[in-house]
Amino acid sequence: MTEPLYDRLSRELARHLPMHMPGHKRNAALAPYLRGLRADLDITEIEGYDNLHAPEGILLEGMERAARLWGAAASYYLVGGSTAGILAGIRALTRPGDKVILQRGSHLSVYHGVALCGLVPAYLYPPRVPGFDAWGSVAPALLHEALAAHPDARLLVLTCPGYEGILSDLPALVRMAHQAGLRVLVDAAHGAHLGLAEGFPAGAVAAGADIVVHSLHKTLPAHTQTGLAHALTPEIGAALAEQLDLFQTSSPSYLLMASIDGCLRLLAEEGEKLFAHWRQALDAFAQEAASLRRLRILRGQAAPDLIWGMDPGKIHISCAGTDITGHALMDTLRRQHGIELEAAGPDSALAMTGMGDSADTLLRLARALAAIDARLADAPPRGELPLARPQAVCPPGEALAAPFDLVPMAQAEGLVCAEYAVLYPPGAPLAVPGERLTGQVLAQIDGATLLKTRSKHAPDRIAVMR
Ligand SMILES: Cc1ncc(COP(=O)(O)O)c(C=O)c1O
Repeated sequence: MTEPLYDRLSRELARHLPMHMPGHKRNAALAPYLRGLRADLDITEIEGYDNLHAPEGILLEGMERAARLWGAAASYYLVGGSTAGILAGIRALTRPGDKVILQRGSHLSVYHGVALCGLVPAYLYPPRVPGFDAWGSVAPALLHEALAAHPDARLLVLTCPGYEGILSDLPALVRMAHQAGLRVLVDAAHGAHLGLAEGFPAGAVAAGADIVVHSLHKTLPAHTQTGLAHALTPEIGAALAEQLDLFQTSSPSYLLMASIDGCLRLLAEEGEKLFAHWRQALDAFAQEAASLRRLRILRGQAAPDLIWGMDPGKIHISCAGTDITGHALMDTLRRQHGIELEAAGPDSALAMTGMGDSADTLLRLARALAAIDARLADAPPRGELPLARPQAVCPPGEALAAPFDLVPMAQAEGLVCAEYAVLYPPGAPLAVPGERLTGQVLAQIDGATLLKTRSKHAPDRIAVMR
């Protein structure tokens, strides 16, 4: 086995005079931040360090290690997060004009892939989980209906786990899609840690999906932006690699790739022990949290008809039926307990755990929740508006390519949307480019905290096709 990439960078780089990029030349005397940010190890592709876009040395060895770990035919490093893998994966599995079935709550990167590749989307609307601001699992019956309604669909994109850790029965869904002649891409950005050890459920690669995309940085010990894209067969791998050449930089950071390399070695050498520690920490949290009176932690048993399974690594907390919102819970944890959560909504707040957690960190969270819980009072449920299902007039790519205007929301009824308006959580697009804006959709957009992609700085306006 070659030495870890981090060790090689640390040992060799100081010996070379860098007459190549990057322009900081590892000169920390020039600017002190360069030292703290390890510019001494920051190179891009030079002799002896392989090539991300045509790997045959230390990078290829790491990618092969990743493929062995997850059981893929081929795996590829991502230095642009899951976003790069999702864009490349969608393009590798489709032709312009193809129809794609996807969950309405898919991440924006999936929508961007659909628009960029000129695809026609058809949506799966899984049930909402009451009190948790979350989408439930995709049931096989829901997919069955969609396959029957869209016999011309070529690709199924599933998100599993969801942001809040909700899993779907991937082996069943992948089998159904393959039998109907569709390819399957799984956005498993939040599931890189699944299927590698006892105590965590099986992952998307084992389910037989054609392409699976993982963010390493979301749950495993690796830097932000790092990820992997896995292919089911060498042929799919070749198509994926070709597309990754388009979507990934020609100057990949070796700091990021050393982080991926280090993470993969750690998983291969000590994964079993580290996963067992993480699981024990989660079990210790669960035991402590069992005494919460009003706050509720999302577990599959809470709604077995809506939730097929759960990633134990997510701690998703419901405040429904109490006198605080998820936003207030997040704020109190930050101000009074020094704990920063991942996200919050009207009824819920999300704590993400990762391999870097310990029983100490999770018990600190559990005790803070217990202190807050003790002060809560009951309150009537807030209720949730049913999400509108707007009708598409044209595909998103076509709508985005057309001229558009930012018009006052009050004048937009009946016009065709030319941007994404996404409600977080649960990542639900209230309107997608190409969809007709009805009074109901506009009322929901008006009353919500949203991410809007074109009218970001004009809350009372919306982009419409001219
Ligand atoms: C479900 C899902 N998919 C994809 C992404 C994109 O991942 P990345 O930030 O690694 O590009 C995210 C990011 O939050 C996500 O939540």
